[in-house]
Amino acid sequence: MDTRPFRSVLYIPGSKERGLEKARGLATDAIIFDLEDAVAAGEKSSARSLLAQTLATADYGPRAKIVRINGFDTDWAEADLEVIAAARPEAILLPKVGSAKDVEALARKLDARAETAETRIWAMMETPQGIINAATIAAAPRMAGFVMGTNDLAKELSCRFRADRLPLQHALQTCLVAARAQGLVAVDGVYNAFKDNEGLRDECEQGRDLGFDGKTLIHPAQLAIANEVFAPDAAAIDLAQRQIAAYQEAEAQGQGVAVVDGRIVENLHIVTARAVLARAEAIRTLQEAL
Ligand code: COA
Ligand code: MG
Repeated sequence: MDTRPFRSVLYIPGSKERGLEKARGLATDAIIFDLEDAVAAGEKSSARSLLAQTLATADYGPRAKIVRINGFDTDWAEADLEVIAAARPEAILLPKVGSAKDVEALARKLDARAETAETRIWAMMETPQGIINAATIAAAPRMAGFVMGTNDLAKELSCRFRADRLPLQHALQTCLVAARAQGLVAVDGVYNAFKDNEGLRDECEQGRDLGFDGKTLIHPAQLAIANEVFAPDAAAIDLAQRQIAAYQEAEAQGQGVAVVDGRIVENLHIVTARAVLARAEAIRTLQEAL
């Protein structure tokens, strides 16, 4: 199982030199370098060059580096890919994916270039068509992750903002299930009110409880909360350790089931407990390297 942390996934507009520089010192697990909606039409070309230059020279350490290009229904996508490919990005994030065909088309373009032989594809899940086709999109070639585009999705669904995100639950859960069926990373959408820490925490907790690996973020002030909420806390680590110990003891006595804190512990719970410990260890290793 891939235990690489994706608790915090920070968007940085490819046009903002200060943000690109600053990110090298930020405690973010992953970065989405954006050429799409955070970059104005008049800045597309300069942002593309700045980003390619930055990726070729700047050291972002162990942070996952994902580039969001413009969609192939625009005039910018081919040039985005051409220029960014030279920097050998580990992943390209494709916006507004509607079906597996969109991913297959990008995969063929990546196949055609030596620099992108290893590049994976992430998909923005943000259109009704994309949600309907989530299962086949997740199974498409080179796919490694889903990012929920909750702003675009709310616009397309014409639903209202609600703190509990009830109108988005179907889409969130459909994508989570599709991602898990293929072993993809799944990252939740952004929280727009970047000065509202309480609201951010609530939404992070909801995303975590649904099963997401982390949250996309728009501002450095959001990092600490996402990193905390999506990491196993001390109580979860302690429980996992006690479950493993109790189960080993039960096994030694020829039993297949143990009891911890009044709840049964079977082999499947041990798989989860080991995953919790592996995730905590991966987070510790990443933090030490930042
Ligand atoms: N990544 C890296 N650094 C960022 C950042 C980001 N997403 N957002 C802000 N910063 C930096 C600023 O450069 C500034 O650095 P400095 O003080 O060291 O010079 C610092 O954080 C504080 O920024 P602040 O003044 O509070 O924010 P702002 O008013 O300049 O910008 C936003 C606010 C929302 C416009 C900006 O955060 C942003 O552009 N976010 C990303 C939006 C995006 O990518 N959207 C697409 C996906 S939804
Ligand atoms: Mg979008």
